[in-house]
Amino acid sequence: MWRLVQAAGTLELNSPYLYLLMATDFGGTCLLAQHQGQSAGAVIGYRPPREPEAAFVWQVGVLPDYCGQGLGLQMLTAWRQLPANRDARWITATVAPDNCASRALFGALARQLGAPLAVQPHFTPDQFPIDHPAEPLLRIGPIPRDESAHAR
Ligand SMILES: CC(C)(COP(=O)(O)OP(=O)(O)OC[C@H]1O[C@@H](n2cnc3c(N)ncnc32)[C@H](O)[C@@H]1OP(=O)(O)O)[C@@H](O)C(=O)NCCC(=O)NCCS
Repeated sequence: MWRLVQAAGTLELNSPYLYLLMATDFGGTCLLAQHQGQSAGAVIGYRPPREPEAAFVWQVGVLPDYCGQGLGLQMLTAWRQLPANRDARWITATVAPDNCASRALFGALARQLGAPLAVQPHFTPDQFPIDHPAEPLLRIGPIPRDESAHAR
């Protein structure tokens, strides 16, 4: 996951130790997409303890060679259907306002699920100890229980 995030660009690369923690303690809500035995994309997330009905996408990335071919949406769809995420009525993520690709990706997911997408203030630049853009919270939901009717 660390290598994938590094190669995807754009994403904030965290320490290898943190990705090991994610794999160890939150592996049920992480997904790696592979093509011909090589990593092509990843979704790294967890179920927020204070919002049990939500599944949070912490980082989603697709390698440049595979971008724009539907892999991001396919990964999020598969990620939502993981046993550890299946019952979530909300999908949340923070996305920098200038990340058009990510906004479009979550917009496409909301349409596919037939659920509303709302954006609300969340982490603000003054909360970061370093220079960092705001990270508003995207909320998709409530997801209809029979969302399969909206799946492509
Ligand atoms: C964001 C990212 C994961 C999207 O993956 P992807 O495989 O290219 O996305 P898809 O091909 O599944 O496209 C999903 C939707 O996003 C749109 N989209 C994809 N890339 C886009 C771009 N650069 N600009 C605008 N829209 C874009 C697609 O048109 C599609 O929308 P549609 O269904 O309405 O046509 C990928 O661009 C990426 O890894 N970017 C770098 C890392 C990043 O910024 N991650 C998000 C922050 S957590």
